[in-house]
Amino acid sequence: MKSLIQELVETISPSGYEAKVRELIRTKIETLADEVQVDALGNLIAVKGGNESSAKRIMLAAHMDEIGIIATHIDEAGFVRFTTIGGVSRHTCIGGRVRFLDGTQGVIYYEKLENTSSLPTFSQMYVDVGAASRKDCPVRVGDVAAFDRDFSAYGDRVVSKAMDDRIGVAVLIETLRKLKKSPNQVYFVFSVQEEVGLRGATTAAFGLDPDIGIAVDVTRSGDTPKGHKMDVSLGSGPAIKVRDSGMLSDPKVVDWMVNTADDAKIPYQLEVLEGGTTDARAIQLTRAGVPAGCISIPCRYIHTPSEMVDLNDVKNAIELLLELISQEVELG
Ligand code: CO
Ligand code: ZN
Repeated sequence: MKSLIQELVETISPSGYEAKVRELIRTKIETLADEVQVDALGNLIAVKGGNESSAKRIMLAAHMDEIGIIATHIDEAGFVRFTTIGGVSRHTCIGGRVRFLDGTQGVIYYEKLENTSSLPTFSQMYVDVGAASRKDCPVRVGDVAAFDRDFSAYGDRVVSKAMDDRIGVAVLIETLRKLKKSPNQVYFVFSVQEEVGLRGATTAAFGLDPDIGIAVDVTRSGDTPKGHKMDVSLGSGPAIKVRDSGMLSDPKVVDWMVNTADDAKIPYQLEVLEGGTTDARAIQLTRAGVPAGCISIPCRYIHTPSEMVDLNDVKNAIELLLELISQEVELG
């Protein structure tokens, strides 16, 4: 499991440029699914089970893109100016490193500030890739990069960039691997462009027209010094989402998840998230509406290059997902 997570998180694939991670995931799932396809936006979709015509269609979604930057301008001296892809925080940029799709690495720094106690804006920052002039610079306008940071394991706590949401991708891959058979037709969607507005899940959900939708993504935790007031902590089980700022989970889906976890004696937490949303919102609002919910992996330091999750939560999320999809579903 650790080596699968490491391979996934260390792959560079910002939103809109998911080809590398998509090919990696494809090699992991090709022999496990009944059918694998890629849609027009680049979503990777694997289907398994449910050969009866009465089978329920369940869409699972984990996004494979990550936040990053895109070059807007290269100056005469070879410094790269950039804007962000997704929710990049200025706090986490200075002195950090990025890696472009072609492997070019760079350091982020900033211009001299008038007020030294203020944080530089993105337009005051630049990437230094070691070039001495524009001619010499390997980066072109429009080139994209992700944050450059290796995977580490501190015991059961694992740390990397792009845990959001490659950890959800790992959960879906392992669930597919362990799913022997199912009365449901289960769609495993590895979605694109979540970080820029749930774009991949929007078209995938429309195309698949599911009966039920479940996203697997990270959520915040409230267990760090003077951190967010939130009743979710690392290691206390996957979080069953009740609400985030983009969605109220369908109460019938929440009950189904809670009852299934109780029956199977799987630890879980209930999640009310004040900022952020997931692919489940896009599924819920497709066509005439779909009952949807989300299983969240508690994560510290989201959208920094050092996102931390606990492997026990990952293991229990897989167990819960397997219980949910391998039995006939009747939403109360
Ligand atoms: Co995110
Ligand atoms: Zn995410």
